[in-house]
Amino acid sequence: MAAPTDKRNKADRVRIFDTTLRDGEQSPGISLNRQEKVEIAGQLARLGVDVIEAGFPITSPGDFEAVQAIARDVQGPIICGLARTSVADIDAAWNAIRDSERPRIHTFIATSDIHIERKLQTTREDVKGQARAAVAHARSYTDDVEFSPEDGSRSDVQFMAEVIQIALDEGATTINVPDTVGYTMPDEYREMFEELYRLVPGLADVTLSVHCHNDLGLAVANSLAGLAAGCRQVECAVNGIGERAGNASLEEIVMLLHTRESSVGLWTGAVTEEIARTSRLVSRLTGYQVQPNKAIVGRNAFAHEAGIHQDGVLKERTTYEIMDATTIGLQNNSIVLGKHSGRHALRKALEELGFHVDGAALNTAFKRFKEIADRKKQVTALDLEAIASEGMRQSTAAYELQSFDIEAGSDRSPFARVQIGLPDGTVREGSFTGDGPVEAFFSAINAATGHEGRLKEYYVSAVTAGRDALAEVTVLVELDGTLAQGQGVSPDTMEASGRAYLRALANALPQAEEAEQPAPDQALSPSRS
Ligand code: KIV
Ligand code: ZN
Repeated sequence: MAAPTDKRNKADRVRIFDTTLRDGEQSPGISLNRQEKVEIAGQLARLGVDVIEAGFPITSPGDFEAVQAIARDVQGPIICGLARTSVADIDAAWNAIRDSERPRIHTFIATSDIHIERKLQTTREDVKGQARAAVAHARSYTDDVEFSPEDGSRSDVQFMAEVIQIALDEGATTINVPDTVGYTMPDEYREMFEELYRLVPGLADVTLSVHCHNDLGLAVANSLAGLAAGCRQVECAVNGIGERAGNASLEEIVMLLHTRESSVGLWTGAVTEEIARTSRLVSRLTGYQVQPNKAIVGRNAFAHEAGIHQDGVLKERTTYEIMDATTIGLQNNSIVLGKHSGRHALRKALEELGFHVDGAALNTAFKRFKEIADRKKQVTALDLEAIASEGMRQSTAAYELQSFDIEAGSDRSPFARVQIGLPDGTVREGSFTGDGPVEAFFSAINAATGHEGRLKEYYVSAVTAGRDALAEVTVLVELDGTLAQGQGVSPDTMEASGRAYLRALANALPQAEEAEQPAPDQALSPSRS
């Protein structure tokens, strides 16, 4: 279906700008630690994205350090840090990304009247001044500067063109016009870009970019409309995560351009075979489940239920499938380990799956692998992925589920007793009688840890098919007003639940502490500091 690669024109190459770790991470309840962010960034590099927007460094020391670690560790893509227009924001972004081989500063300011008047409480003239100074300051650090007029799709196009011209005069090399609130429609968005090209001829010499939110379910359609108008960078996130209804979904954009390349005439450098693995990793580490019927990466995206469809596919796959599952990396891994497999085999298998573990991390992974292999005959690639990403969820304030005992039946109130290893090395016991076994279990954990976590969401899924499948549990827990996710994997569903709950508690603790500190001002100040 795809056009032969030798006929591809460089001008038709679309850059994939991934914002999973910045806009995606702004989704409620997502709390990725540094190691998780580096792991996702490494996988995005394997996926072949062009730009990784690694975070918004001014917002917290944790975000700064994660962006810095990505800039130092991840090679290949451009590593980008987001900044408002203030000197402090741009300095923080630069200091976080400066060690990357290919650093980019992305600075933005709103250009719609509603944002200027109500949010920024300033004037159009001031916005122009802030944009000018911000791009100039960013350019004093690096040649690669992206500028976004926030809420671009709801801005007066004439005024936005003036601001964009200023950004270009100061040396911006990418101009991204976002549909910040997911309001635009494909024809409108396309016409807006065509108008911008007319009003700002200099746009022909830089990369114009789309950034679409999915509030009306049009993020991918709008992105495609922007590409049709001449944009050559798409900002998107894995599994479509992001503010509110999320961002345009990376896998949908990539596979749309791949599958319909002969019609659309555009192509990307993405390694499509890495899509499924990237989606699973992001889903596990963020705790955001992928809906079963989600395009490309939903578990039913390649499933055929109706007999007539099954019959058709068996005779000729393309009767009902427009994509081959192996193109996105499904069904092409044959790794199987068992209880006799050694440390070396485990390390090799993990490496093949893209996880690099050595030293203490390898010892921990091996210990966990042995525990599971003792209870499950065959440990497959999917099991290993689940085990490895569970290990990454280890928080600094780690709790250990040392033992548990749960009694439940139809004629009595469920009772749970637990022993929990605390971060200071002591072991505490807790017990509880509840309305259900899960409630009793989690309340017993609260009693042992001394934290009043409240369960908000609870999901159980099987990592693979079969009765001996590993259970994977994801929980969303609220602790003192802070939401945090946790994930646990085990052959025993209750053990996986306990591990997930303890992780969520541990993840919530640093965030709750951070929330007590005075936060950096999230609203844009009227003038630069
Ligand atoms: O949606 C938006 O406008 C953004 C900008 C920071 C690009 O995320
Ligand atoms: Zn956005």
